[in-house]
Amino acid sequence: MTARQPTVSVLLEPGWERGSLVEDVRRGLGSQPRTLPPKWLYDEVGSQLFDQITTLPDYYPTEAERAILRTHASDIAARTDATTLIELGSGTSDKTRLLIEALRAEGRLHRFVAVDVSEATLRQAAARLASTYPGLEVQALVGDFTLHLGHLPEGGRRMVAFLGGTIGNFYREERAAFLGALADHLAGGDWFLLGTDLVKSADRLIAAYDDPDGVTERFVGNALAVLNRDLGADFDLGAFSYVPLWDSRMQRMDLRLRAETPQRVRLPGAGLEIDLAMGEEIRVEISTKFLPDQIDDELVAAGFSVAGRWTDTDGDYAVTLARRE
Ligand code: SAH
Ligand code: AVI
Repeated sequence: MTARQPTVSVLLEPGWERGSLVEDVRRGLGSQPRTLPPKWLYDEVGSQLFDQITTLPDYYPTEAERAILRTHASDIAARTDATTLIELGSGTSDKTRLLIEALRAEGRLHRFVAVDVSEATLRQAAARLASTYPGLEVQALVGDFTLHLGHLPEGGRRMVAFLGGTIGNFYREERAAFLGALADHLAGGDWFLLGTDLVKSADRLIAAYDDPDGVTERFVGNALAVLNRDLGADFDLGAFSYVPLWDSRMQRMDLRLRAETPQRVRLPGAGLEIDLAMGEEIRVEISTKFLPDQIDDELVAAGFSVAGRWTDTDGDYAVTLARRE
């Protein structure tokens, strides 16, 4: 069978990136505590750095999730009746192949839809999948999963996968809004497969986010490089140090950049000028870790019922299957 080319739809209007970045930067950097939304981390450089992170010996989530899917994907597939698999924040869709193969073996899956803001990564991943699975219709949606759930394809029985622990990068209120919006856009009986990193010792968490070669530091620091490039900002990248903290109260990693010298930073593209005191920190990303009961509670509150959960042998990571009520 000859491979069908993937269809690619770009949901982001031309200039969207700039307008949305300006808004985010004014809101996040212009007020205290200073923050930036993590989606801006994934330009081409950031996407490549994230890929490198997934191969670091102490960054366990990727391999834990892969092990779960390797062992349990056929069980997951057998419990569902999905004809369309939709993956949010799909990146390279690497582990997703295990799910696609298990669903294909059930004989119903005919469409795979990948959604990501990172256009180059998404196009490459979609092309690779289309050539690996010639009978599968592959669609790529270049879009923002906080804005574009209304564009998810309809029809058939859908399963939405949100893997990698990416839900942990939302703040609590964003997470509730996202789960609620997802439930609103799914039909009763549709499936949701959620990957979540679990709470564990602070030492292991810090090790996962503070590798000795500085790959994670470069990934987080890339946020400022994006602002320098896209907004003509003049952050002195060498004047920041990387501060990965475990916030035990909020049960999340808190990844910050600390100004080591006082700085006046101009961001002409956002019409903004900020004064950073020595030691002032910008929170670039959080990565929340979960307890199984909390996952259930949040899913149920959003309108899902929990149909199954699988963890790796070390109990580091969970994949939860839920169904829209
Ligand atoms: N699911 C993959 C990739 C995780 S990295 C895995 O498990 O390895 C997070 C991915 O989400 C990146 O590919 C990034 O580009 C994407 N992403 C981050 N914020 C997004 C947003 N708001 N909308 C769509 N994609 C987003
Ligand atoms: C994509 N996301 C789930 C990663 C995480 O672990 O929160 C992003 C990351 N940031 C630093 N290392 C990895």
